[in-house]
Amino acid sequence: MSEVLRVNVGLGERAYDVLVGAGALAAAGPELVPHFPRGRAILVTDRHVAALHLEAVSDTLAAQGLRVDPVIVEPGETSKSWTGLAGVVDALLDRNVERSEAVIALGGGVIGDLTGFAAAVTKRGVDFIQIPTTLLAQVDSSVGGKTGINTTHGKNFAGAFHQPRLVIADRDLLATLPDRERRAGYAEIVKAALIGDAAMFDRLEAAGADVLDGRELDTAVAAAIAFKARIVAEDEREGGVRALLNLGHTFGHAFEGDAPKDVIRHGEAVAAGIALAFAYSAHRGDCSAIDAARVAAHLRAIGLPATPNELAHTDWNAASLVARMRDDKKNRDGRITLILTRGIGAAFIDAAADEADLLAFMETQLS
Ligand SMILES: NC(=O)c1ccc[n+]([C@@H]2O[C@H](COP(=O)([O-])OP(=O)(O)OC[C@H]3O[C@@H](n4cnc5c(N)ncnc54)[C@H](O)[C@@H]3O)[C@@H](O)[C@H]2O)c1
Repeated sequence: MSEVLRVNVGLGERAYDVLVGAGALAAAGPELVPHFPRGRAILVTDRHVAALHLEAVSDTLAAQGLRVDPVIVEPGETSKSWTGLAGVVDALLDRNVERSEAVIALGGGVIGDLTGFAAAVTKRGVDFIQIPTTLLAQVDSSVGGKTGINTTHGKNFAGAFHQPRLVIADRDLLATLPDRERRAGYAEIVKAALIGDAAMFDRLEAAGADVLDGRELDTAVAAAIAFKARIVAEDEREGGVRALLNLGHTFGHAFEGDAPKDVIRHGEAVAAGIALAFAYSAHRGDCSAIDAARVAAHLRAIGLPATPNELAHTDWNAASLVARMRDDKKNRDGRITLILTRGIGAAFIDAAADEADLLAFMETQLS
């Protein structure tokens, strides 16, 4: 078993640790036990993850004297809904969950967001523990306490800030993850470096595609989590600096919204969005064209898209994409907020982007 890395999310009395690396779940055993005073662990997962990992995870927890009581939901975004939430809350209440015990979320971001929100509202709040099984969930969604569901008004439009008590990012759980999901998750790792850690980007660039597995991956995951942890500790409820974590996301959400359902992955849209944020910053004269080209080259080296036309869907319309950017949750007073950059590791918030200029830029990018 390789050494497990530990990152602390410093939120005072709500602080928690993230354990990273192969074998992290087994290593976490003794730390898990106090969260389950009744000796049973209610664990929410999806059908895919249950088939692949529930038995092994249950065995690992059994070695600590914990009996797993699973709640299995359908995979995919449709479970992140009012109906899905009601199902999980009822399942917790059916099992007479007590405030003294935690609920485990074993799965990707869908399971983490759904279970976290269910935990936040069940009996006015029970604890939860994240065991993320996608790279995206390990580096991003399991850390920071944003939980929620989608509504007819948009993605993640209902939710709560509810921090987990512990996060276990075990690389062994990623062994079954398709390469495409792994690459998509990597977009959130490189995002952290590009926002505020130029030295981290140098290391990722040097590692190239090797960064997608093994010890290189553990180090990169831990670095991305540590970066996010610092930002969350400073601005838990996204009043300011936390918005930087949305680098690439305003563009990315527009691509996700305009593409047919399930054709592009979130991380792919974010990768193209990050490259666009750099290209747009270079167009405005905020950042050098050299940095923008370096970012695009690295994304391609990993197998990620660096332009809208490298996404799995290519039938884009600039006006429609910009209209979606106007609907983004982060916007204030009807102005588009963009995360732009002065270079690698130097992102900043522009709370009033020039919409006409942005539209003209998008038209050139799509032609
Ligand atoms: N809360 C946050 O801060 C935050 C941040 C980013 C994204 N998110 C949310 O995360 C969600 C996306 O998460 P995701 O990309 O993990 O998708 P996901 O949870 O839908 O998982 C993707 C697919 O992979 C399967 N899967 C999960 N683990 C696997 C494994 N180890 N091996 C094989 N298959 C596996 C799942 O069953 C699913 O079919 C979105 O809903 C997004 O809004 C939340």
